Amino acid sequence: MQVETGRASTLPWGLITSDAELIARVTSSLADVEALLQEAAHSDHPLIRESAGHLVEAGGKRFRPLLTLVAAEFGEAVVPDVLVAACVVELTHMATLYHDDVMDEAPLRRGVQTANARWDNSIAILTGDFLFAKASQLLADLGPEAVRLQAITFERLVTGQINECLEPAPGESAIDHYLRVLSDKTGSLIATSARFGALLSGAPGPVVDQLTRFGEVFGLAFQLADDVLDIAGSPEESGKVPGTDLREGVPTLPTLYALASTDAASARLRELLSGPITDDDLVSETLESLRAHEAMNQARATARRYADEARALLATLPDIPARAALYALCDLVHSRTV
Ligand code: IPE
Ligand code: IPE
Ligand code: MG
Ligand code: MG
Repeated sequence: MQVETGRASTLPWGLITSDAELIARVTSSLADVEALLQEAAHSDHPLIRESAGHLVEAGGKRFRPLLTLVAAEFGEAVVPDVLVAACVVELTHMATLYHDDVMDEAPLRRGVQTANARWDNSIAILTGDFLFAKASQLLADLGPEAVRLQAITFERLVTGQINECLEPAPGESAIDHYLRVLSDKTGSLIATSARFGALLSGAPGPVVDQLTRFGEVFGLAFQLADDVLDIAGSPEESGKVPGTDLREGVPTLPTLYALASTDAASARLRELLSGPITDDDLVSETLESLRAHEAMNQARATARRYADEARALLATLPDIPARAALYALCDLVHSRTV
């Protein structure tokens, strides 16, 4: 496969492909989606207008709409419904970000103050609800099947977010529990982003299902990469404050692997990870120690395993430029962690 990775920085996030026509089509459709997003986030109420516009304007990778558009390449054409669905998945994603930042008491998102930090938790939660309401209004025009798909997706997403706050089920290992949480909270919406694109552009049934499976597994790799970046990344890179998960006591794969280590040299790290890490000095010490720990490489290897698994799912899809773009995405998601 030929990819021109050098062009990545000038392209929408993750759209690495040597096919100029594909780039032009997706870039142009993303601009249409952007206009729909602006419109959807609008409110006549001044505070809602400001709070809902806050994260829309801060940007973000727009990865989920991108995936909807790339998946639509496997169908007949990018019809208006595909653009609406692409807007719906980003609105849903943003709604969950407003809520997630309340749960995680996060101060920074997309390089700007979170809504909970800028205003307060109530405004952040209600703004998330507002965006979700807007997504539902748009969905209504796509018909009952689309509404159902979105509702099932949101149910899984919320279940994942709740399970993240809970202990593993009886007999379930901490790592299995964690991976289940990831599939539900992140894989679900990424799978649906791909499914909407393929479905609404009229792709054949088996292609729709395969792209959905791809999205699910890719979503897991995407979230694993994000968890590695929560430890290894910088605010400039991620737009978020490193160590937010640590501070909140949210387990991630690197911390679970570090906790499972048995060597004497890691005893202090295990002790840190076993207790609350709220103090700034403790967060810095834990971050420093984790960054140098083998657990990070283990987490990167697991992210790669899922990226490879996602890649293998592409083999049966038609060999079109969009498939090459999805292959490149699998490479990119792993390289983000190293
Ligand atoms: C953040 O998603 C939450 C995760 C599921 C990792 P993104 O990494 O897509 O965030 P934005 O949209 O670019 O801000
Ligand atoms: C966010 O999970 C996933 C959802 C919004 C459902 P995280 O809490 O791990 O993501 P970030 O790191 O805050 O973006
Ligand atoms: Mg978070
Ligand atoms: Mg979270």
